[in-house]
Amino acid sequence: MAENILYDKLSVCYHYIRKITDFVPRVAIVLGSGLGDFADLIDPEMEIFYDDIPDFPVSTVPGHSGKFILGHIEDVPVICMKGRVHYYEGYDISDVVLPIRLMKMLGADILLLTNAAGGVNYSFKIGDIMMIKDHISLFVPNPLIGENIEALGTRFPDMSNIYDEDLQQLIRQVAEEKHIPLQEGTYVQLTGPSYETPAEIRALRTLGCDAVGMSTAVEAIAANHSGMRIAGISFISNMASGISDTPLNHEEVQEMANRVAAKFQTLMLEIVKRL
Ligand code: HPA
Repeated sequence: MAENILYDKLSVCYHYIRKITDFVPRVAIVLGSGLGDFADLIDPEMEIFYDDIPDFPVSTVPGHSGKFILGHIEDVPVICMKGRVHYYEGYDISDVVLPIRLMKMLGADILLLTNAAGGVNYSFKIGDIMMIKDHISLFVPNPLIGENIEALGTRFPDMSNIYDEDLQQLIRQVAEEKHIPLQEGTYVQLTGPSYETPAEIRALRTLGCDAVGMSTAVEAIAANHSGMRIAGISFISNMASGISDTPLNHEEVQEMANRVAAKFQTLMLEIVKRL
């Protein structure tokens, strides 16, 4: 295994973190654009800035301050990524999923992925929360391409149930109890960074996509490969291209995130407490 470059890189990151802490998380959380304030609900034990970790890919997008927060939500030990790395920043796709694999190596076996997404489904509204039931990753490279890391998972992993049924049930239950309307649907990951054209959105709708974004699916593939239980939550920051008349921009995504922050945080907090 020593000759696997990817695994060597992961090991460097792992050993760097293990030298500073023996904290073992159970739940890994990735916070999407504008959703970073959820991290304030964690009783922190330590923060690790991405730029301090040797070989770790560092994000360059405004609003994606990059750090891990290790700590507890009630009794649940969590590791939270405030800021993620996107493929459009120019990294290899294997680097984009390195943080996910790292969190698994540190001990997390449940992964909660969140993102901001454009609504493709006409019945969605800006500000909606959508539970991801399945995804389409056909438009981005597969993150498992290259020599397989046998220590993490098998060469040809099954992807028929990426988003864990029990976690989906839990999310539905919490949403109902907290009176948070919940959409469900299929998320499609595109590379970005440009937003889509109206024709592309029509095509995606025909393919069965409900929400579109630039993250998450490749992370879910890598996590599923390594045996994690996964849940995904999108918040609909805008309606996708061609549905509304207003041009899309990143500021709108962040502004909308601030408005849904309260219900998003309530939902996430309650989910984590029950894991
Ligand atoms: N398209 C792609 N990614 C996005 C969008 C969108 O409309 N909104 C937020 N992330």
